Amino acid sequence: MQSPVIQPKVPLLAEPPQSVIKFFADSTSIEDIRDLAATGLIDGVTTNPSMVGKSGRPILELIGEICQLVEGPVSAEVAGATCKEMVREGRILGKVAPNVAVKVPLTWEGLQACGILSREHGLMVNVTLCFSANQALLAAKAGATFVSPFVGRLDDLNIDGLDLIREIRAIYGNYPALRTEILCASVRTPNHVKGVALAGGDIVTLPPEVFPKLVDHPLTEKGLAAFMADWAAGGQSIK
Ligand code: G3P
Repeated sequence: MQSPVIQPKVPLLAEPPQSVIKFFADSTSIEDIRDLAATGLIDGVTTNPSMVGKSGRPILELIGEICQLVEGPVSAEVAGATCKEMVREGRILGKVAPNVAVKVPLTWEGLQACGILSREHGLMVNVTLCFSANQALLAAKAGATFVSPFVGRLDDLNIDGLDLIREIRAIYGNYPALRTEILCASVRTPNHVKGVALAGGDIVTLPPEVFPKLVDHPLTEKGLAAFMADWAAGGQSIK
């Protein structure tokens, strides 16, 4: 007779709970990405043609190196203007590593390329330069893995970029089968990060220099110093 299966007291999680939000590094700096990856706190990387152009490195070599540093998606943007060019370039980028997400701009040509690259070639696609809810709606319709609304650049025009995140979240919520993740970009301050989280963004991509600003607080530093001073005065050690 088979022994009874011992039921675990704590229900086993079918899979680990979804993180509250994913953090991506918005950078092509190998050193910064390596340092951030070592913290275990980043889930991917985004790049854009400006960064890659300024890096002075061939894009395929640079993206290939970045893809070795993180397991999560690494966005690499096409440069072509037509759907045909974007598909050709996207397929080349997609071959660099399994975790490449091909970035295409939110244009008619980009949306068509998104549909082809995602549905016919099975590639992750990040539709970028999103500045309106209707653009985000079409990106989802085109099968985007990610849509990248630019918060900071709307703020630059005295338009609340976080309102866009709230609108997209509300619209996407009306269609439960929709799988496009809201990858909030052009995020430049800790308040932007808090606002994105409050608005329900799925992912926030940050310049490396913003990460420490999320952690540092003078009262934390002051409190820790006081704890350590009192601990030292007590003469104890943990061993
Ligand atoms: O990848 C998009 C992001 O890098 C743009 O940020 O600050 O140039 O608007 P920003």
